[in-house]
Amino acid sequence: MDRIVIQGGTRLEGRIPISGAKNSALKLMAAALLTDEPVTLTNMPRLADSRFMGHLMASLGVTVEEAPNACLNLHAAKFTDTYASYDLVRKMRATFNVLGPLIAREGKAKVSLPGGCAIGARPVDLHLKALEALGARIELSEGYVEASAPKGGLVGAEIDLPFASVGATEHAMLAASLARGETVIENAAREPEIGDLADCLTAMGALVEGAGTSSIRIQGREKLNGITHRVVGDRIETATYALAVAAAGGDAVLDGAVHAHNKALWSAMSKAGVTVEAVENGVRIARNGSRLDSVDIETQPYPGFPTDAQAQFMALMTLASGTSVIRETIFENRFMHAPELARLGADITVHGNEAVVRGVKTLKGAPVMATDLRASVSLVIAGLAAEGETVVNRVYHLDRGFERLEAKLTGCGARIERQAE
Ligand code: UD1
Repeated sequence: MDRIVIQGGTRLEGRIPISGAKNSALKLMAAALLTDEPVTLTNMPRLADSRFMGHLMASLGVTVEEAPNACLNLHAAKFTDTYASYDLVRKMRATFNVLGPLIAREGKAKVSLPGGCAIGARPVDLHLKALEALGARIELSEGYVEASAPKGGLVGAEIDLPFASVGATEHAMLAASLARGETVIENAAREPEIGDLADCLTAMGALVEGAGTSSIRIQGREKLNGITHRVVGDRIETATYALAVAAAGGDAVLDGAVHAHNKALWSAMSKAGVTVEAVENGVRIARNGSRLDSVDIETQPYPGFPTDAQAQFMALMTLASGTSVIRETIFENRFMHAPELARLGADITVHGNEAVVRGVKTLKGAPVMATDLRASVSLVIAGLAAEGETVVNRVYHLDRGFERLEAKLTGCGARIERQAE
């Protein structure tokens, strides 16, 4: 198994290209199931997660073809199967989003309950309630969801989500685009990836209004058309590199980052003393040698502070002066990075969903273990800021969500390399 070896203490200077958003790309791939015409996604991140999704779609009979210049061609002309096995779905939760499109187009599907990062229970009850509201009949048996559409297909409905779940909102949007009539999703999630999916579905012929607000209105169509769509820039990758530059010190431009998509993070980083500036087609992050101030944060659905940047922000706070309180409100088991950061000398106490981080003057390199996708990269950030050598083991988590991580960091001066064990 590969590991990543970092010699810390080098400032990051230069430019870091930001890829297309993983979380958006996976749902856009699912959207390609809604039409028998070709769909091309540009600015596609090349990641283990998008490959998993590609394998699953290929197993359903979809033509999946990686093309040059970060393009992915998908063509679901017809399906050879409507069954997604445990082996294909367990590795990644987003694969579950094929269920709605399959029943919308084929009338039935059998999909395994999903897996993914071990950051909490992560049920799919809201996904299933949304599909049921559209008329789907759902049965759970032996770890699988068996679902079918009524005769005549799914029918538009009002879906009131008890929690603004990202996945359930997207799943409802996908299925509603091929349902008869109008669907209204209340208490919808407002993440930028929802806006990206809405733009894609609208270009495919469904009319989606209100993305970015809590109320999304969708006019479904009997048939959708193929399109070419550019995946939005990854705001979590942006957050990650911004926090890496802040932690290691330096001055870098994140090319392709969308400034407007990370306002809660920019506000916290500015309070800590980091320079954040919108520049043409990107964001500039700078920090000179001075010590940062500690800042308290609480994760919230968008536009609040993103849970997917909580671990990386904690890595920054380990070096701030004073004490930072970090509350995680989205997932119940998302502090697995805290004991690993402590190996580098961080002073963190976790009580339930609250972590108290008492800033230390320096971190010292050590061997650490990656536990989930975002936690792993928080260890990379801490390693870049630490004195000496840090070895991050179990890096397959990183490969799920960060494209060319070492190359992007080496490009702005970091001393980081991958070693095969
Ligand atoms: C998506 C992102 C993930 C991010 C999360 C929150 C993808 C592939 N993943 O995950 O990176 O951390 O949004 O921003 O886009 N819940 C239920 N029942 C459901 C669905 C969710 O109880 O049916 C709970 C979850 O257990 C969790 C909370 O709702 O505690 C948030 O989940 P949700 O917003 O659905 O996140 P995901 O779509 O899984």
